[in-house]
Amino acid sequence: MTLKEKVYEKLENNRDDYISGQLIAEELGISRNAVWKAIKRIRKDGCKIDSVSSKGYRLAKNADILSEDKIRKNMNERSRKLSLKVLDTVDSTNNEAKRMISDGFASDALIISNEQTGGRGRLGRNFYSPKNTGIYMSFIIHTDLKLSDAVSVTTAAAVAVVRAIEKLTLIKPMIKWVNDVFINNKKACGILTEAVTDFETGSAQSVIIGIGINISTEDFPEEISESATSLNLQGISRNTIIAAVSDELTEICSDLNDKSYIDDYRKHSLIIGKEIDFYRNNVKMHASAEDIDNNGGLIVKLPNGETETLNSGEVTVRLSD
Ligand code: BTN
Repeated sequence: MTLKEKVYEKLENNRDDYISGQLIAEELGISRNAVWKAIKRIRKDGCKIDSVSSKGYRLAKNADILSEDKIRKNMNERSRKLSLKVLDTVDSTNNEAKRMISDGFASDALIISNEQTGGRGRLGRNFYSPKNTGIYMSFIIHTDLKLSDAVSVTTAAAVAVVRAIEKLTLIKPMIKWVNDVFINNKKACGILTEAVTDFETGSAQSVIIGIGINISTEDFPEEISESATSLNLQGISRNTIIAAVSDELTEICSDLNDKSYIDDYRKHSLIIGKEIDFYRNNVKMHASAEDIDNNGGLIVKLPNGETETLNSGEVTVRLSD
């Protein structure tokens, strides 16, 4: 743990009370000047700390700083085996994962950033990733999966997110096929899965599962201001949520042949039983969403009565008005 993290921990363990710089210094065996410098660095990271000269320091109510140590402490044994990398800023955690893989990194890992300057979404879109108010993370999972199985990892990630949210809160999240997590009909989380393939065997050598969750973002860009939302949790840190998602995802990924997570996906589906439009080659098609198959494909019934299974690569779905 860095000195900054140790001082932050003292503040967090005293969340409701002020703690003097003198006491922090004594307990950590450092000078008051070192405490003051650490406080300055924590504030520079965007974390608000109240200070009163006669009392000392106290974390502001909404302070939520990422900490590798805290994430690890909250994780279960399986998750703790992941190699962790916590960054202040990066273009995209998926890009960082790709760079690590191409540099020969061969373990399973979780990369998290406090901000992304070039966050990527599906279909070439951007993912708005401002500082301090979201979770932007990418898992690297080494697999010997067939490419088609690697697709089901995306479905698994959506289930992991809803399970984690339900474990920690009373929120009722829903999944909009393929992998957007919605709260009260607005998008709070997006998932971008990318496979690094072995062209000789046609299998996925490793899968990068990028998950973006809006935690307390308020000012969304105009084009998504009507459709995006945040979890807005009181008193639950990003560190806790990251660990919970990781625990759920690593558990599902430990046996992807066990398809019981698909039942959870179905239960949380926002679109089964609804009328939908989907676009294929820019042509708008109408259908009713019937079910999700065991590979995460969407089974739809067309107006002529025929059924068809859509897979994520080929369509974007919009609930009919
Ligand atoms: C989507 O909504 O279309 C998918 C969004 C995926 C966003 C996450 S944030 C972490 C990871 N890094 C990225 O650049 N994208 C994913």
